[in-house]
Amino acid sequence: MVLLGLPGAGKGTQAERLARALGVPHVASGDLFREHMDRETELGRQARAYVERGDLVPDEVTIGMVAERLSRADCADGFVLDGFPRTVAQAEALRRVLDRIGGVLHIVPLVRVSEEVALARLAGRWTCRDCGAVYHDLFSPPREAGVCDVCGGGLYQRPDETPEAHRHRLQVYKEQTAPLVEYYRRAGLLVEVDGEQSIEDVQADLRAIVETACGGR
Ligand code: AP5
Ligand code: MG
Ligand code: ZN
Repeated sequence: MVLLGLPGAGKGTQAERLARALGVPHVASGDLFREHMDRETELGRQARAYVERGDLVPDEVTIGMVAERLSRADCADGFVLDGFPRTVAQAEALRRVLDRIGGVLHIVPLVRVSEEVALARLAGRWTCRDCGAVYHDLFSPPREAGVCDVCGGGLYQRPDETPEAHRHRLQVYKEQTAPLVEYYRRAGLLVEVDGEQSIEDVQADLRAIVETACGGR
């Protein structure tokens, strides 16, 4: 499955829980870029300026990175994709990758929130440096400030957590990613979920959708 939604809609929060419940990997293109940037790989060096500004990394770079991740053995029984595809060219590339690895896209939930809600969520986000768990100052604070509930790792704010980058990412979404909503609606795969509910209620809606679309997988 592919999760769509504005920056800050809660894709990562939901994808992580869903993937754990289904026993499949959570594949997030943004997380992959941040790992490359932390490790200072060549790909990380290519991506950094785009990520920090909130622009999309060019399709050639992104598609190769995600295709490689989806070709690994742990994705053979399925995966939850978060943040990819983000352009029509990426959606077409995903189709080719799935053909090659014998996969089928079952469902594309769109986690729908207003821009105001997205911006408020981005403004207070903290991420675990070690396990990637996501928190929010107001909406889902960790038990101890600055410390991850899951693994005890330190929390940090991402390099694209500035008000300018937040606004720019919403604009980029409207221009480059929003067309995918129609693309997947026409393919009969899009299902809308109200992302302004609590984290638990959004998750419950997503589980019900997966149950229907994939027979409990
Ligand atoms: P990426 O990491 O994918 O960022 P994004 O799409 O902008 O989305 P976010 O991760 O910011 O938000 P989210 O929807 O995951 O929300 P979250 O769960 O964290 O991409 C970053 C960059 O990488 C891009 O700008 C680009 O440069 C590059 N990139 C990545 N993929 C690419 C691609 N395919 N092509 C080209 N470039 C690419 O939640 C947000 C906050 O809200 C958290 O604090 C959370 O605790 C809180 N929250 C979540 N749900 C709720 C709720 N229901 N109620 C209250 N609070 C909530
Ligand atoms: Mg995310
Ligand atoms: Zn952690």
